[in-house]
Amino acid sequence: MAKAKTIYVCTNCGSDSPKWVGKCPSCGQWNTYVEEIIAKEPSVSRTTGGFKETSSKNRPVLIRDITSQEETRIDLRNEELNRVLGGGLVKGSLVLIGGEPGIGKSTLVLQTVLGLKNLRTLYVSGEESSRQLKLRADRLAQDTPNCYILCETNLEKIFSHAEKVEPDLMIIDSIQTIFTELVESSPGSISQVRECSAAILKYAKESGTPVLLIGHINKEGSIAGPKVLEHIVDTVLQFEGDQHYMYRILRSIKNRFGSTAELGIYEMRQNGLREVSNPSELLLTQNHEGLSGVAIAAAMEGIRPFLIETQALVSSAVYGMPQRSATGFDLRRMNMLLAVLEKRAGFKLAQKDVFLNIAGGLKVNDPAIDLSVISSVLSSSLDISIEQGVCMAGEVGLSGEIRPVNRIEQRILEAEKLGFHRILIPHNNLKGFDAKKIKLDIVQVRKVEEAFRRLFG
Ligand code: TYD
Ligand code: MG
Repeated sequence: MAKAKTIYVCTNCGSDSPKWVGKCPSCGQWNTYVEEIIAKEPSVSRTTGGFKETSSKNRPVLIRDITSQEETRIDLRNEELNRVLGGGLVKGSLVLIGGEPGIGKSTLVLQTVLGLKNLRTLYVSGEESSRQLKLRADRLAQDTPNCYILCETNLEKIFSHAEKVEPDLMIIDSIQTIFTELVESSPGSISQVRECSAAILKYAKESGTPVLLIGHINKEGSIAGPKVLEHIVDTVLQFEGDQHYMYRILRSIKNRFGSTAELGIYEMRQNGLREVSNPSELLLTQNHEGLSGVAIAAAMEGIRPFLIETQALVSSAVYGMPQRSATGFDLRRMNMLLAVLEKRAGFKLAQKDVFLNIAGGLKVNDPAIDLSVISSVLSSSLDISIEQGVCMAGEVGLSGEIRPVNRIEQRILEAEKLGFHRILIPHNNLKGFDAKKIKLDIVQVRKVEEAFRRLFG
């Protein structure tokens, strides 16, 4: 028997080499190369896809001769998902939904297909049995006459079933469990994932059937190993959130048919995921009258404004090294803000433990919450609460200046809508905005000292 040919593939970026190497020359990661067996003979698809083929119907055309038409989109009856996809699922597109195990990817997708009464859907599961899926569907308390379930991991068999069913939408849960006979290595390996997704892409484009792929995320947070997968697909969505909190965020990382600034928010319930169309509700259920260490930020995620609570606890450091901990906020950024506080408000860094938390288990990347972070720390340190009904937005610079933030109008309008009576914003941030109609008291501040004076007197 001929010796099986093996190559070494980087599990991080998918580049390969005939020999093992310690550091990947392409992505710079250490110890990521693994041995993989590749096809003994060149696969059929390779030979027919070669450049010698002349009967191809694809020829060069002038760009002005191409008729532009709107992509036909499928309404998924799930507003958050539709929006993140850029207004619905495009026919013939390949969408990857990534996320950590147990975050709710299967739930999200199954719930969506069960809601599609008029479309024929094929849900291929390589992870769960049909009985398990039925149990889940019962739990979701939805039923549809048009959803087929297929428990199969062999790609060729999946395609032959798909030919018979002719679905309007196909789901593959998950890409890491599917294998093709053309490749020798085990399911989930780089070459399997690459070959399978390329074949699925071809199927999607040729049949015009959109396919949703589910993919696992590895411990570093990238979609398990294969970055290659992100290049192949049209759209990459990431489902994230803390398993122990109820809220889940669906983020678009790449989208060939829409903006990546969009974001969907869900709440995990007993009977499935509920769309959260008003994200500020994360905050509004709480009453924090008289509590020190709480400040409210007018934040943006993508293009949606929402108000979020930042909480801080400052206590005297008992041990030599003061403790610092931040949940939902960048720790290095918090340390920088603490240094600004030391310089500007006489906050003794070396003697204090500081714990910071963004309520609801969300992770916020918007720099405009700086002002609220620094205010909540000072509020806890002084043990003075911030007046109810006051919120703020502003990025804090190294010298304590408050820097302008984007989309200030939307933040102000959101705060007004939610019944706040005052908002602190950066000085000169209001250019061109007609604030006359706004009933909210807008306070413009230049420096953190000025903001502190307004907040704590
Ligand atoms: P699941 O969709 O299986 O996660 P993934 O496919 O991303 O691995 O979600 C599993 C979790 O969701 C599980 O811990 C139970 C929880 N869950 C609910 O809270 N409510 C529900 O209605 C369902 C179906 C699941
Ligand atoms: Mg799953």
